[in-house]
Amino acid sequence: MSTHLDISKVSIEFPTPKGPFKALDEVSLKIAKGEFVSLIGHSGCGKSTVLNIVAGLYDATEGGVLLDGKEVRGPGPERAVVFQNHSLLPWLTAYENVELAVKRVFKGKKSKKEMHEWILHNLALVHMSHAADKRPNEISGGMKQRVGIARALAMEPSVLLMDEPFGALDALTRAHLQDSLMEIQKDLNNTVIMITHDVDEAVLLSDRIIMMTNGPAATVGEILSVDLERPRDRLALANDPKYVNYRAQVLTFLYEKQRKVEPITQASKVVTSTASRAASA
Ligand SMILES: Nc1ncnc2c1ncn2[C@@H]1O[C@H](COP(=O)(O)OP(=O)(O)O)[C@@H](O)[C@H]1O
Ligand SMILES: [Mg+2]
Repeated sequence: MSTHLDISKVSIEFPTPKGPFKALDEVSLKIAKGEFVSLIGHSGCGKSTVLNIVAGLYDATEGGVLLDGKEVRGPGPERAVVFQNHSLLPWLTAYENVELAVKRVFKGKKSKKEMHEWILHNLALVHMSHAADKRPNEISGGMKQRVGIARALAMEPSVLLMDEPFGALDALTRAHLQDSLMEIQKDLNNTVIMITHDVDEAVLLSDRIIMMTNGPAATVGEILSVDLERPRDRLALANDPKYVNYRAQVLTFLYEKQRKVEPITQASKVVTSTASRAASA
């Protein structure tokens, strides 16, 4: 296996008013060209931080990232990011948001007509052709997320970094986009790192699932290789004993080995007490 992306002993400390906060401790991971890797772990463990370091948006305090043997020192169009909270430019339409990225990558390489067709093709992939001329404030959160995905795919990045890309979508759209992503990734052979909370999504899409320990000083806990033939069919896999076993292994890691009890926030306490008052009224 030749290494495309080499995350090597990455640690990061954030300055906080109470002193430095060590979010990641010696995260190491070698990823092959065309490999699909998922990061899974409890909320706040440091998944987005890992992705941001690979994207070149955060600097590791120690260690670093090599892409094809070259150190990552900042963002670059060969590493497209789909952010957790869609990040479209609000004054541009869906078409123009994708166009901006396409022009950045393909100016001088594709003709105007080819760029136009390529933008439409990518909007069609995420079922957004009908809303190409709408601005972000005119479309739903899920639709904005789809435009963000189209924008990233349109850049034909060698590395696709996705932070919970389907989290905000309804189940049908999510399934459709997961299937499209598997097909696109097969065709383009891009390397993908995807953060997800969804165990089924992780098993269905990944070649390997990287399970992170709880923070602070989070690191790689266990790595599960998912040895299921591709193309993968969600219906056929639902009863496949291997699939069911992989799923159980991830669940065991999350809910036994790295069990985490979320503190009850003030807001949810208020809701609970109002609900119990309502119930007793
Ligand atoms: N810029 C920052 N400054 C200070 N702390 C941060 C910053 N970014 C993330 N953190 C902290 O680092 C930890 C990991 O955060 P994050 O990577 O967003 O977790 P996840 O994506 O797994 O939910 C959290 O405790 C978070 O509060
Ligand atoms: Mg996150």
